[in-house]
Amino acid sequence: MATTTQDMQTTKTVFPPGPRKLPYIGNLLSLRRDPLGYIQQLQRTYGNMATIHLGKNPLVLLFKPEYVRSVLVENPRNFSNAGVAQEDESVANEGLLTIDGEKHRLQRRAVQPAFHKKYVEGYATVIDQYTQEVLQSWHVGDTVDMSSEMQKLTLRIISKCLFNIDLSNQLDALGGAFNDMIGTATSVAEDVLRIRIDNPITGYGKRMAAARKLDTLIYTLIAQRRGDEREQSDVLSMLLASPSGSETQEHLSDKQIHDHILTFLAAGHETTANALVWTFYLLSEHPEIRVKLLDEIRTVLEGRTPTIEDLGKLTYTDWVLNESMRLYPPAWMQARFVTKEFELDGVALQPGTLVMMSQWVLHRLPEIWGDPEAFRPERWDPVDGQRVPSGAYFPFGMGPRMCIGMPLAQMEAKMILTTILQNYMPQPFPGYEPGLNPTITLRPKQNLRVQLIPATSGSEDASVWRQIVRVPDVSLEERKGCRPAFLGLFDK
Ligand code: HEM
Repeated sequence: MATTTQDMQTTKTVFPPGPRKLPYIGNLLSLRRDPLGYIQQLQRTYGNMATIHLGKNPLVLLFKPEYVRSVLVENPRNFSNAGVAQEDESVANEGLLTIDGEKHRLQRRAVQPAFHKKYVEGYATVIDQYTQEVLQSWHVGDTVDMSSEMQKLTLRIISKCLFNIDLSNQLDALGGAFNDMIGTATSVAEDVLRIRIDNPITGYGKRMAAARKLDTLIYTLIAQRRGDEREQSDVLSMLLASPSGSETQEHLSDKQIHDHILTFLAAGHETTANALVWTFYLLSEHPEIRVKLLDEIRTVLEGRTPTIEDLGKLTYTDWVLNESMRLYPPAWMQARFVTKEFELDGVALQPGTLVMMSQWVLHRLPEIWGDPEAFRPERWDPVDGQRVPSGAYFPFGMGPRMCIGMPLAQMEAKMILTTILQNYMPQPFPGYEPGLNPTITLRPKQNLRVQLIPATSGSEDASVWRQIVRVPDVSLEERKGCRPAFLGLFDK
């Protein structure tokens, strides 16, 4: 059936079919048990649309690329981001992700210059310097937690590029605070009964403690900048000068600026870190792809740090990252509230209905991808690759709310990936099973702990080195003292 979309004035909502719901909790238990498996199963059972219930509230899941396009690109004004975030004050509900309409248009426009090509290219120096510092702290044979290392690196980069602060002394504490805020799931009691107990053992309490830690940092930063006479041209100064879009207030309040900063910091590091972690994992599982990638890196870079010009020539690297974000999209779903009655293929969605589109499901539709579970970067070859319909692949979202940080994220991921691979092949320990942890972003359930194998030429296999550089799995500090002498040969 052809997709028809239009505003509706009078039609009564008949929700698309879905599984039976339990009293009070609806389908929450199944959704929480295995969100990704559950929604994928819903697509297999019900096809293009399905309805489930979060407590009493219906949630309509849209599984067809045309629907994604219709909601995100063609009719964004019929939908709202506001209210998708929780209503409590601790959440950045006045940040760019969760404001709407004129406010969103004006405030996005105010910070947009910081994401123009010229500006973003200027961030390359910061990315390179901080990545080199990480490399200097690593040695061949070390065991490294890549999840935590990538998180700290991307957090340090985003705060320097957008707010001109170096968080190097606070990365552990702030990384932990973001983990508690983003990675701690809400409980059924919290979701359905609205019970919120602020103590250190509840998920809610952990999120509150994390929010307080981040608030202190962010409000201090705003106060310092307000008192600083010097001319600056970063996102913070753009926010301070931004019109608010409200009739009663000319500029943004401290709370609004705080929410923007928190949104940029959270959205700007966790996603890129996850993309990198999943990519290192996939490369370790696919030696033939790793060899092709290393060949490209060696040919294009000849051992140099990548420059902006080099980045354009690293096409296989692009395909690898695209394919990694297809299989493991760091943002795995997007939700919107319907604000104006809306029809989609004969189904009239009423204001207040929550709709959701999931990258996890759309990036795996067999009728589009053919072999959806295969990690095959060649599918992105513009000449011989497959045709991907619009709306089927959207790791950065689509339409007017598409990720503002995309150019930065793409440059950053490419620079970090190629710089690290010129030096090391991070090798997970045998038997490593990442598991899936879909919270706000999609992380591996188990952090990716690796052993650092020396970067080999493209045609050599890192498994050879794994056998030579086999270090007992003891703590880093212990090993530093007793690392066999021959390993020193590979130290930088
Ligand atoms: C691989 C990395 C990244 C991925 C996969 C990603 C993904 C996304 C997605 C899917 C959206 C759309 C959300 C929606 O429509 O509801 C989005 C929006 C956004 N992203 Fe990213 N993002 C990444 C990196 C970044 C970076 C580095 C920044 C920092 C500048 C950033 C800041 C934002 C902001 C502020 C928005 C809201 C835009 C708006 O509503 O106008 N993201 N991102």
